[in-house]
Formats: sequence, C-alpha cells, structure tokens
Amino acid sequence: MLSSGMEKAINAQINAEFYSSYLYLSMSAHFESMSLAGMASWMKMQAQEEMFHGMKMYDFVHERGSKVTLATISKPPGKWKNPLAVFTEVLKHEQKVTALINELVNHALDERDHATNIFLQWFVTEQVEEEASVSAIVDKLKMIGNDANGLFVLDQELGQRVFTMPLA
Ligand code: FEO
Repeated sequence: MLSSGMEKAINAQINAEFYSSYLYLSMSAHFESMSLAGMASWMKMQAQEEMFHGMKMYDFVHERGSKVTLATISKPPGKWKNPLAVFTEVLKHEQKVTALINELVNHALDERDHATNIFLQWFVTEQVEEEASVSAIVDKLKMIGNDANGLFVLDQELGQRVFTMPLA
C-alpha cells in the first residue's frame, strides 16, 4: 500500500496528466480551426498519450491497494498567436511535468518506496523523449519563421505521426 502522502502525490500527478491531455486536445482544436490538419492530428495523438500516462498511474495506485481520487481538471487556454507559440507552450509545459515527475521520484526515495521509484523511472525516460521531440519541432518552427511553404511541409510531416500505445 502507498503511504497517504504518496497516494496524494500520485493522485495530483494523475490530474496533471489529464490536464496535459486536455491542454493538447485544446491545441488540436485550435490547429483544426487554422486548417493545419497535420498539427491538429499530432496534438490529438499527444492528448491520447497523456491520457495513457494518467491511466498508467491510475492502475498503479490500484495495484498498490490504494485509492484514486479524481479532481477537477482546469480549463486549458484555447487560442495562440501562431504555431510557434503553441509548441513553445508545449515545451514549457513538458519541462514543468518533468519537474513534477522528479519531485515524485524524490518523494519515493525519501520514503524508501522502491516499488514506486521503479514505477516512476518509466516516466523519467518518457519525459526525456517528450522534451526532445517537442524541442525539435520548436527549432524547426523558428527556422521556418513566416515562410508559408515551410509551415505547409512541417504540417504534412507532423500529420504522419501515428499513435502507438506505449509498452506498459
Ligand atoms: Fe505525461 Fe507529456 O507528460
């Protein structure tokens, strides 16, 4: 069983993961409204991935014989200046999530909760991958600047992404 402090901390992270999903779905809707179908699709996959992250934690809490308590999911923003502003926000958001995961790991180590520590290592690795992939898109958007052709090509490229359920 998780300690009550650890239970509370993972429940808070479940909320953060579901908020991430909601935020990326809002970004997907924004791209749909801008006729950037590839970016809209990329964000929808990202939203699915975040839902998977939340559910992975949800299942873990139950596996440990503890209780999931769902809380309100905050309203995400719905408008951005341009695609660069959207992906810059994604990168900042992911950096924040990385900090939250690191805090959870510290919490597990403080409690000598080895099972939770091992469980969280998957998320530590996942965050490295997430930050790297978003950072690469931010770099490309900076290179593209106001070039409509470049944006068109990147939109096509991001539209190729397919959602594959990560291995649990
Ligand atoms: Fe679940 Fe993008 O971190």
